[in-house]
Amino acid sequence: WPVFAEDVDAILRLKRERDAVILAHNYQTPEIFHGVADIVGDSLALAREAARTDARVIVLAGVHFMAETAKLLNPDRTVLIPDPAAGCSLADSITPADMRLLRARYPGVPIVTYVNTSAAVKAESDICCTSGNARRVVESLGVARVLMVPDEYLARNVAATTDVEVIAWRGHCEVHERFTAAEVAALREDHPGLVVLAHPECPPDVVAVADFAGSTAAMCDYVDAHRPARVVLLTECSMSDNVAARHPDIDFVRPCNLCPHMKRITLANIRAALETMRHPVEIDPDIAVRARRAVERMLAVA
Ligand code: 13P
Ligand code: SF4
Repeated sequence: WPVFAEDVDAILRLKRERDAVILAHNYQTPEIFHGVADIVGDSLALAREAARTDARVIVLAGVHFMAETAKLLNPDRTVLIPDPAAGCSLADSITPADMRLLRARYPGVPIVTYVNTSAAVKAESDICCTSGNARRVVESLGVARVLMVPDEYLARNVAATTDVEVIAWRGHCEVHERFTAAEVAALREDHPGLVVLAHPECPPDVVAVADFAGSTAAMCDYVDAHRPARVVLLTECSMSDNVAARHPDIDFVRPCNLCPHMKRITLANIRAALETMRHPVEIDPDIAVRARRAVERMLAVA
């Protein structure tokens, strides 16, 4: 902690001076998550809080699509991303041109777009979803068939829980696609009594052998509510550090898959963002109008 103290002090001071709020995703490292964040959560919670805040400046400690979502919901506020190169393999897996091809190929079929996409892709979609509300969003449309892009595994995991036919794209999260059912079996063998929680970006055969699947926030809630003696969170590994900090009595088993994009955000670049007001997120107004509609439509689904 002493090595971080100077940056933490400076960030806390700058937040007051700038009237800034820091929204941090559950995958941020503990010094960000516990040290400087005002709001922490999953993508859905960060979008909701972004829609609610009245701070003049929002610093998004997360990846670029999260900062774009915050900007869509706050066109008149300054939204800063400490490192604009903090991307996402899912967001990179589909383009607006792909979306237009899907429309042409499946006329009349609504497109549900995971928030892990660029604003330009959201602009081509009917409604967004997150891992926390995907099934609810799909079912809210009242149709027999939807397209769900770009995460193939999220789409297949949702399909397994609903009567709606879900047509998937071929994007994958480079962190979650690495978990395997064989790894889960080996973990259970090595750690008796292990409770396995999986993120729905994991392959369906991994979700099938987990005890519970849900968004990062749902996994945190599960641990808080059930307090298992021994647990593994099949997701980005900083999350275990963050949850373990409030559960010293729980044995967290940690295969460590890091998201290189999330790890681009540091105390140093958060501080630099607030000092110099860099890097403001800007979205083409024509794209923003259409993308905002898809995000707001999602937020209107209970
Ligand atoms: P959550 O919305 O569940 O936090 O997931 C975001 C993400 O990027 C998972 O890899
Ligand atoms: Fe994207 Fe996967 Fe990183 Fe989440 S963990 S930001 S889905 S690459």
